[in-house]
Amino acid sequence: MNGLATEKVANGSRAHIVGWGMAVPERVLDNHGLSALVDTSDEWIRQRTGIVERHIAGDGETTLSLSLRAAQSALEVANLDPAQLDLVVVATVTPDYAFPATACLLQDALGAEHAAAFDLSAGCSGFVYGLSVAADLIAAGNYRHCLVVGAETLSRITDWSDRNTCVLFGDGAGAVILEANGASGGILSSVLGADGSGKDLLILPAGGSAQPASAETVQARQHTVQMDGRQVFRFATRIMPDASRQVLSQAGLAVEDVSLIIPHQANDRILQSAARSLGIEETRIYSNLSRYGNTSSASIPMALCEAIEQDLVKRDDILLLTGFGAGLTWAAMVLRWSLPLPVPVPPRRMTFWRNLRYRWVQLRSRWRRFWRRVDAHLFQILYDAEGRRKRGKGD
Ligand code: UT7
Repeated sequence: MNGLATEKVANGSRAHIVGWGMAVPERVLDNHGLSALVDTSDEWIRQRTGIVERHIAGDGETTLSLSLRAAQSALEVANLDPAQLDLVVVATVTPDYAFPATACLLQDALGAEHAAAFDLSAGCSGFVYGLSVAADLIAAGNYRHCLVVGAETLSRITDWSDRNTCVLFGDGAGAVILEANGASGGILSSVLGADGSGKDLLILPAGGSAQPASAETVQARQHTVQMDGRQVFRFATRIMPDASRQVLSQAGLAVEDVSLIIPHQANDRILQSAARSLGIEETRIYSNLSRYGNTSSASIPMALCEAIEQDLVKRDDILLLTGFGAGLTWAAMVLRWSLPLPVPVPPRRMTFWRNLRYRWVQLRSRWRRFWRRVDAHLFQILYDAEGRRKRGKGD
């Protein structure tokens, strides 16, 4: 049975990242490929954004399938069974469905039977919002293990005839496992903010209750991203340094204490401007934008994964995560890395059993769906028979 009450964790526990993983689609679209679609050039895109290529979801690939791959890798690193998860959060603006939440689909696909699950929509700040919420639930003593995913298939809501937006976005997913434990370090502080007066600056106009889907909305391309790039750019260059300073001061730290900044990957010029404003060298700001483009809520966890893989993160390092996006929203978080790296690779046999378990979980989910249909059918037969019996008796 899902949703069993979880064991209470000590109040005030710190949330530590103990697992991480990422996934991108195989298909790569470079700037030259894009210049065949719209009036643009490799030179313009590189100079104005820093993007060289992006990954694009193939047939059958969705936000869920990318989330699942990233989450499985994160669980593998954490050496954790999905049944030990208490919470699954998926930050996304491109869920598989408006409802049910992609987090519920992920919970089912993982076999995380004891986990609560919900999606979180905070634009490109979504992942840090999710981490912050999960860390607070851990600190309140509610949960021990939380899976937080940032995942997008932005290619599905991109207008491929609009050169102002289509050159920017890419698809991917990143995931982390947060664990409650009493050790020092982990997530130290976070700052979350929003200013809904900027709603029109970055918006998917139709498909919600304000403008339900219709032939007209489809014709008017209202189901694809619309953005005022210049305004978002100005907002980003102001809010990233502001939020970073605020979160550092909240943690009692200074910019000099930060080993690495892992920012939302939107535009290299935004990152350069943030570096200037904060007075730090650009080498302390991690960027993988050239290879993935802007993957919205997936960009920070993907960058974190790659920074770890490239040995840029060491025990006791202070990391600063910072993002901004649709809403408008912004988020910043400071953490002290508490895990020795590299983590030991789990034994092969364990991986084999885990894979077998995922197959079993898949079959079980199919069986449950099948049984629900049979159950509904049987119920209908009994209901009809009861109706006939009552009518026969003249009740
Ligand atoms: O995750 C948050 C999401 N969004 C962002 O972070 C986006 C933030 N904004 C940006 O990154 C930048 O504003 C853009 C990359 C979107 C645009 O760069 P820009 O330097 O602000 O360019 P612009 O919008 O001021 O446009 C300059 C020129 C325009 O031509 P005119 O009017 O000067 O003749 C555009 O039509 O560049 C033109 N242009 C392009 N040219 C070639 C716009 N897009 C393209 C393109 N290829 N793809």
